[in-house]
Amino acid sequence: MLWEHKTIVLCVVMVYITSLVAGVEERQQDTKCADLNNTTWQGYRQQRVKLQVQYLLLTRRNADCAKTFNQESLSEQPTFFNVSLPTKVIIHGYRALGSKPSWVKELVQALLRAQDVNVLVVDWVYGASYAYNLVVECYKEVALQISVLINQLQKHGCTLKSFHFIGVSLGAHVAGFVGTLFEGKIGRITGLDPAGPMFKGADTFDRLDPSDAQFVDAIHTDSDYFGISIPVGHVDFFLNGGKDQTGCVHSRFDSILVYFPVYSYVLCDHMRALHVYMSALNGSCTLKGIPCFNYEEFMKGNCMTCDMFRGACPTIGLSDNSGITMSPIPKEQKLFLLTSSSAPFCAHHLLLELEVSPLDKSAELEVKLTTGKMETQQRLRLQTSTTVYRTVLAHPVALCEIDSIKLKNTGARFYRQGDVHVKSVCLTEFPVLRREKPLCVNNINIRRGAPWTHDLVQVCGI
Ligand SMILES: *[C@@H]1O[C@H](CO)[C@@H](O)[C@H](O)[C@H]1NC(C)=O
Ligand SMILES: *[C@@H]1O[C@H](CO)[C@@H](O)[C@H](O)[C@H]1NC(C)=O
Ligand SMILES: *[C@@H]1O[C@H](CO)[C@@H](O)[C@H](O)[C@H]1NC(C)=O
Ligand SMILES: *[C@@H]1O[C@H](CO)[C@@H](O)[C@H](O)[C@H]1NC(C)=O
Repeated sequence: MLWEHKTIVLCVVMVYITSLVAGVEERQQDTKCADLNNTTWQGYRQQRVKLQVQYLLLTRRNADCAKTFNQESLSEQPTFFNVSLPTKVIIHGYRALGSKPSWVKELVQALLRAQDVNVLVVDWVYGASYAYNLVVECYKEVALQISVLINQLQKHGCTLKSFHFIGVSLGAHVAGFVGTLFEGKIGRITGLDPAGPMFKGADTFDRLDPSDAQFVDAIHTDSDYFGISIPVGHVDFFLNGGKDQTGCVHSRFDSILVYFPVYSYVLCDHMRALHVYMSALNGSCTLKGIPCFNYEEFMKGNCMTCDMFRGACPTIGLSDNSGITMSPIPKEQKLFLLTSSSAPFCAHHLLLELEVSPLDKSAELEVKLTTGKMETQQRLRLQTSTTVYRTVLAHPVALCEIDSIKLKNTGARFYRQGDVHVKSVCLTEFPVLRREKPLCVNNINIRRGAPWTHDLVQVCGI
């Protein structure tokens, strides 16, 4: 129901934007280099039956100038496609406005910097535009066409194992269906926030699932809305719980019409998976997922190790099997991590544990951690019924770099409140190989309005 309502709102917005965009003059296209197609509402209505899938080839030898690629290209000499190299296949998703996906170039560049590979971009903008339900109807046809090309590439010496499909949103399910057609023998499929609407309840035959490739990984960033909420890979990274991302505006959908440009707000959570993935390919920091039953348990600090992976947490990016060395590889394993709001997105995970003496009234405690001039804070609501609090924080620096910890009793302005007696406040950074003794300060009496500060004397990396 919610989805339907949102679709209607989105359509209204779409038509409005389309009419704006239609008049905008397009940049002159380089005739030698190929580009993704785009369509307008008018163009789409005139030729809606045609799928018009095309492929663009990029390699390190033509990283800035895509070449259109088809079965004949392989027999042509010279060709940039090298059958001895692995091949990355990028599949975009639903294009509400018929525009070409703007992120393709950045993803291709990041892939080519990271590995010497053939990159094939599947351009199905014509089939992917406007009515979502019609688009969903044709995604299997796109997969079928891709499989014909893969068959040809096999004849020229490519192995199925050498293919890695990277599918964004609906593109993840297109990749999944290609995988189904090859009975799971394709090397790898990465789903970047695989589409949720019309897929969550779908049979595994119709959506991405671990049987589609030898290894399937997925990143979830908008699982309450455009993305799918169930695990679909061997490992599934749920960023910040997989629903709402830091730095994205989370207004109610009805009020979103007030904002402009509407579209980027709506898609901020959904596209975060792609941006985090590209950042991981850039390699500035390592994004590790920690296995846990659910996000609530994770945020209570009940999952702090990667013991089930023999201590090596799976990582986002191109490492074989996400860095997992055990076999068999688990399936549909949920992994959690917190991120920051912008590239390179990495954060340190700190467990904050607080134990207080029983209170007669509820209170609020502010915990501040400082490093140089930087300060982060967390508010804890203290109830009379609970004395132990545990919460996980995404922290910009490591625990060993924190200079001081401050506690302030901030609650209850309107009635008299006594002191809060903190039996202990402890910090632990994770994931850890072995649970070590946390960093604790004990026995603190905090008066209302009188902040307490404790300087930490510690050294990093011994
Ligand atoms: C799509 O783009 C290619 C060039 O990249 C062009 O040759 C082809 O005609 C375009 N298709 C349509 C339908 O515009
Ligand atoms: C988009 O499509 C129109 C024709 O439908 C074409 O003239 C224009 O060059 C295209 N723009 C880009 C950036 O490909
Ligand atoms: C194709 O890749 C292989 C393996 O990296 C390399 O040895 C060979 O030189 C490449 N061929 C061409 C034509 O670049
Ligand atoms: C990756 O690196 C390139 C080149 O240094 C940069 O332009 C791009 O913004 C980076 N992307 C991310 C997501 O970090």
